[in-house]
Amino acid sequence: MIIDSSLLKEIVTTYGPSSREEKIRNLIANEIKEYVDEIKIDALGNLIAHKKGLGKKIMISSHMDQIGLMAIDIDEKGFIRFTNIGGIKPALLLGQRVRFENGTIGVVYSEKLEEDNKIKVDNLYIDIGTNGREETLNKVKIGDICIFQNEFLESDKVIISPYLDDRIGCYILIETIKNVMKNSNDLYFVFSVQEEVGMRGAKTAAFSIEPDIGLAVDVTSTFDTPKSEKLNVKLFNGAAIKAMDYSLIAHKDIKDALIELAEAKGIKYQIEVLEHGGTDAGAIHMSKSGVKTGAISIPCRYIHSQSEMVSKDDIIMCLELLKAYVE
Ligand code: CO
Ligand code: ZN
Repeated sequence: MIIDSSLLKEIVTTYGPSSREEKIRNLIANEIKEYVDEIKIDALGNLIAHKKGLGKKIMISSHMDQIGLMAIDIDEKGFIRFTNIGGIKPALLLGQRVRFENGTIGVVYSEKLEEDNKIKVDNLYIDIGTNGREETLNKVKIGDICIFQNEFLESDKVIISPYLDDRIGCYILIETIKNVMKNSNDLYFVFSVQEEVGMRGAKTAAFSIEPDIGLAVDVTSTFDTPKSEKLNVKLFNGAAIKAMDYSLIAHKDIKDALIELAEAKGIKYQIEVLEHGGTDAGAIHMSKSGVKTGAISIPCRYIHSQSEMVSKDDIIMCLELLKAYVE
């Protein structure tokens, strides 16, 4: 199996912050429509693709939304103040290039500060290079959301780009949809909305699908960089099978089934325990009267920065594990 870099690049660089997922949804729908029996879009905007089978109903979810910045005020000189959509560290924003849905580009910078290391979102602004408030308002309205504009970089071993969270999961779902051989199970692939603001899309999708089994495919933090905490997941160590994060404790049956499958097929894996952060799995497992839920995670360094990093081998291990599981 090799990675389709041009498709991955397209998926990763397409606009789609939480609540504004139209563009990425259209791209994914086009990509998978010939390989599934039915595609539905619910009221929140989740893309739900059904691949029919007679067995258990399995919901597999990756979120297509991304973190971003929402304009909240524009001053006389045309500078834009913003709030965050999803978890963002202010210090990582300094000098960051951004892009609004209509293509307007800008840069985030800080007002003059005594101490640079105490930056808060309040100290930052977006400069789109205009000459005053009216000119800015022609391009950006209060409530508009911009995303990080950055290059998609690739070496022989890793991919570096913003928004691998969770477009890499979307890519893995798309490739699974295209390559799954025989599915005895009844498969619902969900490209969910608004995960970054609290797993909102996965909640409504799980409610309508009523799956027997839930599975999230999302990135997880690694603990292999200088002075990181003593947790297990490392880049290059294979697909991460979730034991726990802040949003759920994986169901034993699902976790064990994934481990067994990885062992049987010789798929490199590691067990994930995460003290902070969650995924769509957190919303799925508490839907209705409860759903047995687990997760396959892609190890990722520098999550929610402009330079998230994943290993190509790990991507392939995740893909093989998901494909084996749904088959
Ligand atoms: Co995220
Ligand atoms: Zn994510």
